Amino acid sequence: MKGVLLAGGNGTRLLPLTKYMNKHLLPVGKYPMIAYGIHKLQQAGIDDILLITGSKSVGLYAEYLENGRNFGVNLTYRVQEQAGGIAEALELAKGFIPPDEKFVVLLGDNLFQDDLKPFIQCYTQQPPGTAMVLLSPTDNPHRYGVPVFAEDGSGKLLFIEEKPVNPRSRHAVTGIYMYDHSVFEIISRISPSDRGELEITDVNNLYAAAGTLVYDILQQWWCDAGTFESLQEAAVHMKDALP
Ligand code: DAU
Repeated sequence: MKGVLLAGGNGTRLLPLTKYMNKHLLPVGKYPMIAYGIHKLQQAGIDDILLITGSKSVGLYAEYLENGRNFGVNLTYRVQEQAGGIAEALELAKGFIPPDEKFVVLLGDNLFQDDLKPFIQCYTQQPPGTAMVLLSPTDNPHRYGVPVFAEDGSGKLLFIEEKPVNPRSRHAVTGIYMYDHSVFEIISRISPSDRGELEITDVNNLYAAAGTLVYDILQQWWCDAGTFESLQEAAVHMKDALP
């Protein structure tokens, strides 16, 4: 199975730090943020990884990560010219993923403790054309994509609201997604949102509408390190996560 690690975007919530440095190269404990995502994929047995980032930063990534060998992985790089959204970045993976293969997508600013293996195992058993999202309990759901569940007690995920003012659950949709090639056709069907981005939530909602979106819930600590507060929290949690 292959992995796609997204490290583009403008990182505006971390200005002025991100004025000169791509968010995913900022230090978290002993390592740049991006090292943790690579480690999580490698730990799950995914050693063929596409890293997508902006043109200004791709040289720095190549300098630090090289071809990935020192991290136990094989890295391919692709450039997203403008920060046109997570789904736009993901579209760049189309030629990297063989037609019949499932794959994992990680947002590079999502740091977490769970081992991905059991979730991947569960996803590989799903029929073709299914997508999977991982949720995490959170105190700040309004900052994230938030699932809306059926009220009949079935636990069915009906759809996802992106950064809702009045969240209808205490769970966040994390930046850990699993797809197969069907995602590229789905991406071709969405349009830019009000903020001008191709939204991953719109992609996942098309799966949900078709009844082909499944989910599972992370059991351990998870964080989106995209704000100053969460970046500090991540540094504390990740202090000894890697040797
Ligand atoms: O962290 C989980 C959240 O990530 C989800 O709950 C939301 O549903 C999802 O939309 C996303 O929200 P954010 O507002 O945190 O997304 P952000 O713009 O910060 O981008 C997240 C990651 O995606 C970041 O690591 C960089 C990458 N990215 C983002 C954009 C906009 C790209 O690679 N290219 C892009 O154009």
